[in-house]
Amino acid sequence: MKELKITPIKEGTVIDHITAGNALKVLHILKIPENTTSVVSVVINVPSKITGRKDIVKIENRELDPRELNKIALISPKATINIIRDYEVVKKHTVQLPREVVGILKCPNPTCISNAREPIESRFTVISDDPPRIRCYYCEREPEDVIDRIV
Ligand code: CTP
Repeated sequence: MKELKITPIKEGTVIDHITAGNALKVLHILKIPENTTSVVSVVINVPSKITGRKDIVKIENRELDPRELNKIALISPKATINIIRDYEVVKKHTVQLPREVVGILKCPNPTCISNAREPIESRFTVISDDPPRIRCYYCEREPEDVIDRIV
């Protein structure tokens, strides 16, 4: 029997193949306000051919900027981004971390210069994508809890 888990969207973005259980983190970094008027659909722990289980987030009438895409890559390295126009998938790509991520994570080292009062943006070298491992460009700290470092 074919089950209808969640309806297609007309315009917007489908974030598919999110690591099972991480959809709420994705919603958090997308800063969807409690009083949003957009249609947002979330499925958690549905079966997936590739990964066993996955989460999906669908957001009507929204496209994601590069900072948001980099955050999603840190939360879910296998996520795919589908741009939907008039019910069709017009663009599909896997998230891809750049060699360096600037300004989207906070260094865990309190004495790191990126945590000083002057406006220096955090800067991390990406050591590996999946699982994501990063190293602070300034103090060389390698945070274990990468997802919790996202600002
Ligand atoms: N989707 C949607 N609304 C649409 C079209 C697609 O919500 N109007 C969703 C589908 O439910 C799916 C994702 O967008 O979760 C990608 O759609 P599609 O490429 O058609 O699915 P698959 O071929 O299964 O994708 P993949 O190969 O990336 O697993």
